[in-house]
Amino acid sequence: MKILLTGRNGQVGYELERSLQGLGELVAVDRSIMDLANLDRVREIIRQVRPALIINPAAYTAVDQAESESDLAMRINAEAPATMAEEAKKLGAALIHYSTDYVFDGTKPDSYAEDAAPNPQNAYGRSKLAGEQAIQSSGIPHLILRTSWVYGTRGKNFLRTVQRLAQERDELRIVSDQFGAPTWSRTIAEATAHMLAKMQKGADVRGGQCIAEKTWQDYAGLYHLTAQGKTSWCGFTRSIVEQLDLPRKPSIVPINTSEYPLPARRPQNSALCSDKFMQAFCKLPDWESALRLCLAP
Ligand SMILES: NC(=O)c1ccc[n+]([C@@H]2O[C@H](COP(=O)([O-])OP(=O)(O)OC[C@H]3O[C@@H](n4cnc5c(N)ncnc54)[C@H](OP(=O)(O)O)[C@@H]3O)[C@@H](O)[C@H]2O)c1
Repeated sequence: MKILLTGRNGQVGYELERSLQGLGELVAVDRSIMDLANLDRVREIIRQVRPALIINPAAYTAVDQAESESDLAMRINAEAPATMAEEAKKLGAALIHYSTDYVFDGTKPDSYAEDAAPNPQNAYGRSKLAGEQAIQSSGIPHLILRTSWVYGTRGKNFLRTVQRLAQERDELRIVSDQFGAPTWSRTIAEATAHMLAKMQKGADVRGGQCIAEKTWQDYAGLYHLTAQGKTSWCGFTRSIVEQLDLPRKPSIVPINTSEYPLPARRPQNSALCSDKFMQAFCKLPDWESALRLCLAP
């Protein structure tokens, strides 16, 4: 099965390129090859590669910047996936796409299941929701995997920021009234690989390891895929700092969202329930165990 993977230099894309080895013939591209802001280029690359499956972790992820670049965020997060779906339809290909907990408004006291009504509070969330809807209405076989609070040892993320600030400062003032599930990029990639392996197993073998139409009918749809449990940014910070080997650790001071104003509004509780994914495909680790593994030397 020929797989076109976008965003190979992103947190999730980088891990996917490694976890998906052996599951098909992988063509991994980055922004220099396929700029998602250029829809003609998106079409051109898909027509050249002719994949059986497109996996799209590439996205405009600068949540605050999206407030002032909402058109660009919409092009990359909604119009580009819509174009991928359109081209996939012509090829008879499928699409796996990633989305976000920020499609929710965060007012729910417990975790969000897939059928909860979205109500994004910022431009990034609106663009990601529009991307989901474009794929859903395209009629192609697809999987949309919503994840949250992604971190890893590469790229720009909360873990890396805390690691740096913990060395530079005596005190870290961190928001303690927003809740979610920090999710290691590798967890997302490995779970995606398990999912694909399960879908390939027992599928009709036509021209390689193509996933049968029946399998797509059984599994296609929207899933939440995050680490288990939830915490606040402050709780996440405590756990990171506990595991850092530093001569002197900073004190961690909990603050409210209102004390750290940012351009984009964030949901207060964006914990997602991943039971549907776990029942269909594989178990997901709790956030603290995954963090320990990520930070293990
Ligand atoms: N990060 C999070 O906390 C988070 C939370 C929930 C959901 N998600 C979703 O999870 C998925 C993976 O996110 P991530 O954490 O891996 O994001 P990331 O580390 O920010 O990576 C995003 C990737 O998209 C690429 N990209 C951005 N604009 C592009 C363009 N115009 N053309 C081509 N590529 C472009 C980036 O390329 P460059 O390397 O060239 O910049 C980067 O490789 C996304 O769908 C995201 O919305 C992320």
